[in-house]
Amino acid sequence: MLIDTHAHVNFNAFKDDADEVIRRSLASDTLMILVGAEAKTSKRALEYANKYEKGVYAAVGLHPMHTHEQAAQGEGYDFTTREEEFSYDVYEKLAQFKKVVAIGEIGLDYYHIDVKADAAAVKQKQKEIFLRQLELAKNLKLPVIIHCRQAHDDMLKILKDFRKEHKEAMPKDKSWGVMHCFSGDEELAWQYFSLGLDISFTGLITFSAQWDDLIRRLPNDKFMIETDCPYMTPEPFRGQRNEPMLVKKVAERIAEIKNLSFERIAELSTLNARKLFNI
Ligand code: NI
Repeated sequence: MLIDTHAHVNFNAFKDDADEVIRRSLASDTLMILVGAEAKTSKRALEYANKYEKGVYAAVGLHPMHTHEQAAQGEGYDFTTREEEFSYDVYEKLAQFKKVVAIGEIGLDYYHIDVKADAAAVKQKQKEIFLRQLELAKNLKLPVIIHCRQAHDDMLKILKDFRKEHKEAMPKDKSWGVMHCFSGDEELAWQYFSLGLDISFTGLITFSAQWDDLIRRLPNDKFMIETDCPYMTPEPFRGQRNEPMLVKKVAERIAEIKNLSFERIAELSTLNARKLFNI
């Protein structure tokens, strides 16, 4: 069994065949967490999760790219994001449902800030909304799924301060969140580990060797796998739409790099996901 810990089958890229994609994945013994990026896609993640008795879970949250309207371009995507006014109540209500296993994705994204925008104001607003969602997660005792792009200094500072401030309310022997689609270096990975967070890998590692050394030395209990579909399609399917079933390619690549069996990586990544998300 595998768990795709970060899938967006709840996004428009799947509007015509979401159920088919989900069924295909479940039939290949791959469970998934559908991750929201705004209220609309968070609700849809929950709606899909509720449709299936087992194997489909949801995360709800406001992504930093939706705190302002902005252009988003990259491999396999090109769109303008909607701006959403963050409402604690909306996400608190959504997060009460049993199938919601995390608050996410939330975080900071300085990479996509418009050149014409007031960068300082955008960053400030992202930080405030991120912090409120960290608080929501703490209050509801849910783990967090964190997105961070070109903002690691601010991210580390926020997480350190937050952890210090809420020491008694934070899990002690257990991770409390994951840095999703981790793309930093080894030193950064260990900084996140020391803050009680795990990291998770996408198809990115199937076409770049940049993380091989980190993966080789990765502690067995600190990593997970994800697709981030429809984006980040692994080799040999690059250029096509990604989907949860393909998380297998990420596990295969980690097994290859660590010189362990595929079954062992499946077992470890599944166990780590089950522990973090209580599933
Ligand atoms: Ni994502």
